[in-house]
Amino acid sequence: MATGERQAPLPQLNPLPDLDCVGPSSEGASVGPSVDWWREQPALEKWGMSFKIGIVGAGGIGGIHAAILAKDSRIQLHSFFDVEATRAQSIASRFGGHAARSLEELLQQCNAVFVCTPNTTHEEVAIKVLEAGKHVFCEKPFALNLKSAARLHDRAMRSGVIYQVGHNRRFAPVYKVLKQAIESSELQPLSVHAKMNRGELVNPPWVWNASLTGGFLYETPVHMFDLMTFFFGRVEWVEVSARSHGHGELDDFSILLSFESGLQATMKTYAHASWHFPFERFEVYGMHSTYETFEMERISFTKGLESRTTSYDFSLASMHEKWGYIEEDRLFVDALEGKSPVPVTAEDGYNVVQLIEACYQSARDGRRMSPGLVSKKSAAPFATQKR
Ligand SMILES: NC(=O)c1ccc[n+]([C@@H]2O[C@H](COP(=O)([O-])OP(=O)(O)OC[C@H]3O[C@@H](n4cnc5c(N)ncnc54)[C@H](O)[C@@H]3O)[C@@H](O)[C@H]2O)c1
Repeated sequence: MATGERQAPLPQLNPLPDLDCVGPSSEGASVGPSVDWWREQPALEKWGMSFKIGIVGAGGIGGIHAAILAKDSRIQLHSFFDVEATRAQSIASRFGGHAARSLEELLQQCNAVFVCTPNTTHEEVAIKVLEAGKHVFCEKPFALNLKSAARLHDRAMRSGVIYQVGHNRRFAPVYKVLKQAIESSELQPLSVHAKMNRGELVNPPWVWNASLTGGFLYETPVHMFDLMTFFFGRVEWVEVSARSHGHGELDDFSILLSFESGLQATMKTYAHASWHFPFERFEVYGMHSTYETFEMERISFTKGLESRTTSYDFSLASMHEKWGYIEEDRLFVDALEGKSPVPVTAEDGYNVVQLIEACYQSARDGRRMSPGLVSKKSAAPFATQKR
């Protein structure tokens, strides 16, 4: 702990993720169209039905959701489907449940589905789930261009079922502390600086390929765009300069974001930084105050010129807790039960895609771009264009 820092008692936060605690925890949740389901429909449990959950895509993140959901007694982890059948079988034998032979078979067996397949497949798979009338949790990114995002948003809105996007960082304890400070007006943001680097575009082996990721900003930095709007509201315009240092796609962005509130933020994101710690950081400045995050491990803040620095350290929590996965899954099941609204809606997902497209268009055109004016003709990914 740095000189002058002290470990203070935690403020009154939403309870940290706890699978035995099923109370709603929707503070700060944005309310979008698919949210109405929880208000208007009787919860399935009232009809004596249990939630049967299926997972499509039995890779890294599918395994994380399976491990978390397997501990939630409110649902039955029922089926897995993966184009690589052995992966579905392996995850089913690890966490219980069946390996379905097709998506259609899984859809017949389940009433809610986690879509954990690669970025390029999200729209297609999610629309099939919606067409079957099943609730959707779909991993980020929501979509890879604005046309696709608009189609998916439209389908989700008309579906009458729950659609939750996997922007897990909202539920990371460090970001909950920051959000709560802003909402309680303990921190009134006047200026912001943020970064989100990747160590490399080497692992997983497809991560360098913009035609599979959608472009670097749709990869890890997508989380930062969601957090920016979650914390600071709607973005009025962005001004972006970008470079390419490898793989023929833009991988080094200097971004100026101006919010409707008048707040301005700078953000740097670079793809090949090594995993030097912290590769993700927010610095939020108020009048004589600073809140600073260190990855999702720690948040420190200094309030007032005479004040000492306070730190909350979450480094001993499990990665599933620290990264917000446990709480996002718990809130999805809360929403299924009709206990709370969907915490990250299709509208939130659409807004992030629009913001990313505005960044790519600004980088390409060399001028300020408003997310609301972004062209539906996709600007990302675009290769070898340097400024
Ligand atoms: N929210 C987060 O923090 C986070 C973290 C990691 C990954 N993700 C996202 O989750 C998604 C999956 O990433 P991953 O790291 O688990 O990838 P992965 O490659 O480990 O797993 C993807 C799995 O999907 C399967 N698959 C591919 N196409 C399919 C299809 N059409 N139907 C069924 N199965 C299919 C693959 O065989 C593979 O097993 C990506 O969109 C990624 O961006 C999010």
